[in-house]
Amino acid sequence: MTTSQKNALIVGASRGLGLGLVETFLKRGWRVTATQRKASPDLAKLATEALTIETADIDDDGAVAALHDRLKTRKYDLVFVVAGVATQAHDPLHEVPRDVAAQVYLTNAVSPIRFAELFADTVAPGGTIAFMSSILGSVGLNESGGWDNYRASKAALNTNARSFEVRHRERPFGILLVHPGWVRTDMGGAEADIDVATSVTGMADVIERRLGERGAAYLDYTGKTLAW
Ligand SMILES: NC(=O)c1ccc[n+]([C@@H]2O[C@H](COP(=O)([O-])OP(=O)(O)OC[C@H]3O[C@@H](n4cnc5c(N)ncnc54)[C@H](OP(=O)(O)O)[C@@H]3O)[C@@H](O)[C@H]2O)c1
Repeated sequence: MTTSQKNALIVGASRGLGLGLVETFLKRGWRVTATQRKASPDLAKLATEALTIETADIDDDGAVAALHDRLKTRKYDLVFVVAGVATQAHDPLHEVPRDVAAQVYLTNAVSPIRFAELFADTVAPGGTIAFMSSILGSVGLNESGGWDNYRASKAALNTNARSFEVRHRERPFGILLVHPGWVRTDMGGAEADIDVATSVTGMADVIERRLGERGAAYLDYTGKTLAW
């Protein structure tokens, strides 16, 4: 390991965008710690000396605390909470059972912040804490409706991340809310605009360019700033 080698913690890397980010950062020479909820054959295929695979569900406070215990001596240039759900995203809000709506909010908007609170002490000076948002989380850009509960959960993630940034403003890291594009994954579906490689290459470029910057930014995978 060289002293200039960067370190990333990618949370929610069993498949889709998280898996693609792990592959991309490894190719760029980073050391990566990747988390899964249960054994992921696709993640296992990326095995190399530079990859550490850990297991944790971000909704399980005990599992996240145990993960922090295992990793607390490490320093990460990037902590990226990618994990998210879109349960019953196509149903209008009033048709989504209350417990389902609440769980989407907890996984998408609460667990990522709780994770970041715990792992803030593992972020290296000049590093970034990134959250996987969505353009659907923009209140200002919502001209088409649809995906009500998912939209609201990502808008809440944006708001909670801004409060997190204010709470930690004196600390030497920046906050990034990232829209990956509409991507062909299990969540994005086969009709989506772009493939995983295009999205994760763009996001990795945006992250590498922004290392060392403070404050909170809401950017898409091309680096374009989005309206809150
Ligand atoms: N695809 C798109 O077009 C798009 C657009 C905007 C934003 N996003 C966001 O990008 C992120 C990744 O989406 P994706 O398209 O890659 O979706 P995906 O293929 O459905 O993958 C979701 C990932 O999140 C993990 N996950 C879900 N709940 C978790 C939990 N409680 N604890 C830990 N891991 C959990 C899943 O793990 P398991 O394999 O164990 O289920 C999986 O690795 C999400 O936050 C999503 O909202 C996606």
